[in-house]
Amino acid sequence: MRNRVVISLAVLVSAFTFSARPHGVLATEPPKPFDLIQWNGGKFIYGVDYYPEHWNETQWENDAKMMQAAGINFVRLAEFAWVKMEPVEGKFDFAWLDRALQVLNAHGIKAVLGTPTASPPAWLYVKYPDIAAMDENGVRYRYGSRRNYCIHNPSFIAATQRIVTAMAGHYTNHPGVLGWQIDNELGDPNCYDAASRAAFQRWCRKKYKTLDTLNAAWGTIFWGHTYLAWSEIPLPWNTLGPQSLRAHNPSLALDFKRFQSESTHDYLEIQTAILRKIAPGKAITHNAMGMYDNVDYSDLHRSLDFVAWDNYPMFQKDYANYFGPGLAHDLMRGSKNNQNFMIMEQQGGLPGWNVFWGRQAAPGLYRLWAYQAVAHGADGVCYFRWRTSRYGTEQYWQGILDQDSYPNARYQAVSQTGKELQQLTDLLRDSKVVAPVALLVSPDSRWAFHIQPLGEKFNYNQQLHLYYDAFRRLGINVDVLFPQGDFSGYKVIVAPGLFVVDKPLVEKLTDYVNNGGSLILSYRSGVKDEHNVVTDQTLPGLLAELAGIAIHEFDPQTNQEQEIVTDGASFPATVWFDILEPTTAQTLATYGKGYYAGKAAVTRNSFGKGTVFYVGTEAAQDYYDRSLNWVVQQVGVARGPSLPEGVEMAVREKAGKKIIFLLNYTEKTQAVAFEQAYQNALTGETEPAQVQLPAFGVKVLTLP
Ligand code: GLA
Ligand code: GLA
Repeated sequence: MRNRVVISLAVLVSAFTFSARPHGVLATEPPKPFDLIQWNGGKFIYGVDYYPEHWNETQWENDAKMMQAAGINFVRLAEFAWVKMEPVEGKFDFAWLDRALQVLNAHGIKAVLGTPTASPPAWLYVKYPDIAAMDENGVRYRYGSRRNYCIHNPSFIAATQRIVTAMAGHYTNHPGVLGWQIDNELGDPNCYDAASRAAFQRWCRKKYKTLDTLNAAWGTIFWGHTYLAWSEIPLPWNTLGPQSLRAHNPSLALDFKRFQSESTHDYLEIQTAILRKIAPGKAITHNAMGMYDNVDYSDLHRSLDFVAWDNYPMFQKDYANYFGPGLAHDLMRGSKNNQNFMIMEQQGGLPGWNVFWGRQAAPGLYRLWAYQAVAHGADGVCYFRWRTSRYGTEQYWQGILDQDSYPNARYQAVSQTGKELQQLTDLLRDSKVVAPVALLVSPDSRWAFHIQPLGEKFNYNQQLHLYYDAFRRLGINVDVLFPQGDFSGYKVIVAPGLFVVDKPLVEKLTDYVNNGGSLILSYRSGVKDEHNVVTDQTLPGLLAELAGIAIHEFDPQTNQEQEIVTDGASFPATVWFDILEPTTAQTLATYGKGYYAGKAAVTRNSFGKGTVFYVGTEAAQDYYDRSLNWVVQQVGVARGPSLPEGVEMAVREKAGKKIIFLLNYTEKTQAVAFEQAYQNALTGETEPAQVQLPAFGVKVLTLP
């Protein structure tokens, strides 16, 4: 009886929450920003992901002691322990978790509890087999692994509400519990069962109101795909290569991406609503995945108090390539209006599942990566995981300790970092990242390029990096903006691959430039409207007037040798070539080869009080390094000192005072020359103007 009430409530909640809404518009007031350091009793959050349920209870006390000795004051617990907390439907057992918390709390360690929905118990699948996600071929996932549920399934939503309600009720007043992490790395899989299809059809109906509107927006007359009933609308194919002949209508496919992303948010909000009601006053977060883009994080994060994310720099083949994690930190910060964030899983050892992945990092890198996170705005760093598992899929995924608990070199590096960060807490408190330039990330464009990639060499994130890496090499902080963000205040906004645009976005960009901003656009911009339909205006469509160009010819011959020429220097160019005809713009670079040699490749247009650049191709990195150096000089953005390869500079600010982080990712000593001498925030000593950085070293510098 009790269950039936819960289920009907769930159906009600799902009918209410899984509905279309204008994209990017806030449905509810966002919660107030959380001051992370304040939230942890004034301490820098320094922690580990800990799984007491994987270990003998007799080990807990020693674990807590070793954590405390390493400066650890925080753990994340329980995000995969559903079966232990609800071994029988509706019967809960939190005694073990209470005991674990007691041991940890006694050593000054507080916790965030993960809601365990990423890995439901086997009994739930046996009782409700249709909670398992269905792949696009109509096959249900088998039990095992994790993230294998369907977020539109009413039984799963009911089970979610039951476990979250029980956890919230049990821990509502627990002083050792600071807050909550919702689920674990939300965003997949896409589910292709009948319930999901019905949910997509409801979403379409809510968005378009009439089938005539939907058919016109999607251009369904193409191949006679006009829908005459909502129930006819299909789900698109998911994973298709660029050459596939099974491609779906790109407009339907883009709406499906939006639907999937919004549904993920709505599933998260089912949980946050329960926690806010039953356990008010505790912070709520989620562990996001940086550059991952099956969800629009700027939408997902609006129901959270702060952003947390999982940082595994191993995805960089070269550990000295700090730009990958750097951009991911900045994008995560940008996904919630540049509020400071935390790392919920910081790589703590060599990763691996069935085999070890990649290569071992020098112990000093585990310290350096924590500092990099802090330099980019993290007020908390939590390592994954305390100790490598003896069991299951992640036996090869190293924690800080290995299975034998020996205080190894990683433990020593983590301990040193823990002590240093507590020493720096007063300095870091209330400091922020301030950036004079920004990259505009368009989730719609990213998705549209997934649906119709320009070719094998095109990569949206690579576009971001061409500009990002160039700014970073100049020692300039970079923010990441989303279309609904505040554009004012930036000297330069780069909007690479702005493929999908709508009128409101173009108006915002126009205001920004009119008021004196510099905007950099790149090839294939302004091609599509918000329905992923090609504009009938001359390219770059709604952006043509701003850019002061017309594009009547383009060349996607990605394997052709091409170059651009500017001031007598030439740079290799690849991927795509827009052949630009200036209307009001000036030519800055021309193509060097082929039948369009001498035609414009890069232009600059004066517009209002500002300037718009259009880069019609993808040039080699040194072109971006050189031209952005020139652009920042033009607009009066101060660049940093000259940085050796593999040395990063990032800056936080507090009341106008700079906190400079210099990070050396290389195996040798490096030097960075400033015009003045700074004080070392850790030693209190004055550094020479020529700062020496030991191998894998970091220095935090301030002016006295
Ligand atoms: C074939 C088909 C056409 C068109 C072209 C281009 O020739 O008959 O309908 O699709 O390919 O794809
Ligand atoms: C992700 C997950 C963790 C763990 C690590 C390592 O980040 O959130 O639970 O599985 O990967 O595989």
